[in-house]
Amino acid sequence: MIIAIDGPASSGKGTLARRLAAHYGVPHLDTGSLYRAVALSLLDAGAYLGDSGAAEAAARALTDDILASPRLRDERTGEAASIVSAMPGVRAALLEYQRAFARQTGGAVLDGRDVGTVICPHATVKLFVTASAGVRAARRAAELRARGEPADEAIIRADIEQRDRRDAERAVAPLKPAADAHLLDTSNLDIEAAFEAAKAVVESVIAAR
Ligand code: DC
Repeated sequence: MIIAIDGPASSGKGTLARRLAAHYGVPHLDTGSLYRAVALSLLDAGAYLGDSGAAEAAARALTDDILASPRLRDERTGEAASIVSAMPGVRAALLEYQRAFARQTGGAVLDGRDVGTVICPHATVKLFVTASAGVRAARRAAELRARGEPADEAIIRADIEQRDRRDAERAVAPLKPAADAHLLDTSNLDIEAAFEAAKAVVESVIAAR
């Protein structure tokens, strides 16, 4: 069983993906962390973020160390990830790794922007998770404050909106729901309620098979 979960930044898709993977006992891949790792490699090397050759080379040379870096979650890394993820060479370099992860015996949960549309078009279940920009900014601000970092909600919201636009407007694998994705708006749902709603979708798809 492959569960594909897509959606914009801070929609709650990562938490849902982890919870569903634990519930069904299958491995989980946060595909955004791959793009973040490419971005962090470039930042650490002091490379120009628009250098698509360097970005593609970094995508082909990802190490466990960089994939485990706590700096993957930094705002600066996320911003840079949004830039490198628009590069076709970077996306092509990361495609097979993601597909191989999805093909594991027993299945997998993958979350990102293009899992249901490009990586796993034949996924068993596709969820597209959204929430309003205001709610997502508030969640992100709470997350940063919990880590002891300062957070200005208005700035975060502007960043989120800019990243949404960049992710949705890019030519390759833009952020959009697959035609057969189930939409889940988590604006008014807490984690538990969102998990129950997502699980209900998965169960209904399994039952109909
Ligand atoms: O979900 P995230 O914030 O960790 O993603 C970081 C960036 O990577 C985001 O700007 C979109 C991009 N991304 C992508 O293009 N395709 C994916 N499958 C996952 C993330």
